[in-house]
Amino acid sequence: MRILSGMRSTGRLHLGHLVTLEKWKELQDGGNECFYFIANWHGLTSHIEETASFREWTLDIVRTYVSVGLDPEKSVLFVQSAIKEHAELFLYFSMLVSVSRLERVPTFKDQKEQITDRDLSSGGFLLYPVLQAADILMYLANGVPVGEDQIYHVELTREIARKFNAQFGEVFPEPEPLLARVPKLPGTDGRKMSKSYGNFILVDTNEKELWKMLAPMMTDPARKRRTDPGDPEKCPVWDYHKAFTSSQEERDWVVNGCKTAGIGCLDCKKVLQKNLVERLSPVWEKFNYLRENPRLLDDIIEDGNSRARTVAKETMRRVLGVTKLGW
Ligand code: TRP
Ligand code: SF4
Repeated sequence: MRILSGMRSTGRLHLGHLVTLEKWKELQDGGNECFYFIANWHGLTSHIEETASFREWTLDIVRTYVSVGLDPEKSVLFVQSAIKEHAELFLYFSMLVSVSRLERVPTFKDQKEQITDRDLSSGGFLLYPVLQAADILMYLANGVPVGEDQIYHVELTREIARKFNAQFGEVFPEPEPLLARVPKLPGTDGRKMSKSYGNFILVDTNEKELWKMLAPMMTDPARKRRTDPGDPEKCPVWDYHKAFTSSQEERDWVVNGCKTAGIGCLDCKKVLQKNLVERLSPVWEKFNYLRENPRLLDDIIEDGNSRARTVAKETMRRVLGVTKLGW
């Protein structure tokens, strides 16, 4: 399959992203042809005041992609703004969707209602899913690994592909969303993960810093004393165990120990710390190596951009051909 997915350049990656990237790696190792990119133009819709940080964040994200095992030899890792063809294809697609159709996109409606501290009145924000359709269809992707919240965007992408094909002739496949069942991680304080709460754990950390985040982590409030039993379902530490503790034996130990007060919360967190360190050590090693050798990362991005551009140019050649707009 031809796979495409991306992340916005709106910050550094945390443990919630790690699980997503591991799914992307599975697709890569399953012999698919994968394109993974950084959607820095999409970042503009919510973070236009912070473009000065985009470069740093983009580098951090690509560094994390590679550190978790996305292999730049196998997968094409690239940056959206380096491939101007995305903007060109986006222009064509924008002609195929009505404004009222875009206003009905759930992510648009929800964010308009929920986000009050940012200005979401731009045309760019309304057109966000159209740009996303251009990202996907540019590479003729048929599989798009995304979270639940993005399914509708892939649906709109299918609609755009159908409309374009009906109008001009078969160019684009209709991509499927590949739902990655990624458990939604809460913040370390039990609230929603958020930059402004400082309640998330970056992938780029180390053993000491990790424990500094885990040790004070919020637990089931019923466990005030060591002898009080608790309920893992009311505890964010358990959400992390579910994501990062793969041994069934250890999971049972957590659940039983918690419910019977057989273990203390600190014991519970120590096991999580051990499992996270095990999982992250190889990632940290690569991450630090790449940080110390910035030229390597530059080369990876340059090579990825160039491979992406080759595909994008070929798609645009076909688009200009069928629309008769090429000169
Ligand atoms: N909208 C996606 C998100 O917020 C990011 C994104 C942009 C994307 N273009 C894409 C994801 C194309 C998959 C395919 O997560
Ligand atoms: Fe949470 Fe573990 Fe404490 Fe139970 S024992 S409340 S799961 S930290």
